[in-house]
Amino acid sequence: MKGIILAGGNGTRMYPLTLACCKQLLPVYDKPMIFYPLSVLMLARIGEILVISTPSTTPSLRDLFGDGSHLGLDIGYAVQDEPRGIADALLIGADHIAGDDCALILGDNIFHGARFTDMLAASRAANHGCTLFSYPVTDPERYAVAELGSAGELLSIVEKPLHPRSENAITGLYLYDREVVEIARGIRPSSRGELEITDVNRAYLDAGRARLVELGRGFTWLDAGTPESLLEAAEYVRTLENRQGISVACIEEIALRMGFIDAEQCFRLGSELGASNYGRYVMEVAAEISAAH
Ligand code: DAU
Repeated sequence: MKGIILAGGNGTRMYPLTLACCKQLLPVYDKPMIFYPLSVLMLARIGEILVISTPSTTPSLRDLFGDGSHLGLDIGYAVQDEPRGIADALLIGADHIAGDDCALILGDNIFHGARFTDMLAASRAANHGCTLFSYPVTDPERYAVAELGSAGELLSIVEKPLHPRSENAITGLYLYDREVVEIARGIRPSSRGELEITDVNRAYLDAGRARLVELGRGFTWLDAGTPESLLEAAEYVRTLENRQGISVACIEEIALRMGFIDAEQCFRLGSELGASNYGRYVMEVAAEISAAH
């Protein structure tokens, strides 16, 4: 399965924060926002990842991750000249997907919860079309909204409905089978001029091949796309990290735990960041895991 992180857009809801810096590089407490979606793909055991961003931001993202080999990953980059819609990522990424199945994640979405790795593995195994993840929110009108039947089956998906039929927002993580590029090629821009990911998902739903996984209570999904939600996300991460002494979305730790790199390499990466708490944490994790083996 291939991975795509869509990290473009103009970030206008964040102005002036994003006048000179892209949203996905803004800090969510102690690390850049894009570490969070990258960590989700890594937890799903996806190592071949395409990062799609704007012409001005792509060089900074390349500076941040390089080719990903230090993390045991293969990270490539592609440019989206204009924000033509989320589904455009599937067209830009067609060569990267290359007939494989794929996971698409939005660069401003943060997922955190117990047994998430197991849930991702199970969702990958059960995916025979598209798999969507929903989360109950108090403001569903800001998102795509899923309507569920009495047995929990997916009945409809509506993008930013004025009158939502449920509180279940569809999150910005999507798993697709190998037909997704063909389906994305068949959709047309919406009335707001965008290639809507909801139209791709609806095509799967109409074909009876869309599956919904409900991320329930005890799980956290945050969309850090406004100054308010960015601060909320940072506070959430700070609270967890300070209370538990564990890091959320530490990509070096995840690379080690998921077997992309060994403890020696993880320690080396930590020492390169040594002066920060983050770097010290990476070194400690590497030393602990190495001692346990
Ligand atoms: O966060 C989940 C929601 O994301 C879903 O529930 C919606 O169905 C989906 O449309 C999307 O809604 P947003 O209102 O958050 O979409 P937005 O246009 O803000 O784009 C989401 C992210 O993707 C944002 O960080 C910018 C980036 N983006 C967006 C578009 C349209 C791109 O990189 N390129 C694009 O062309």
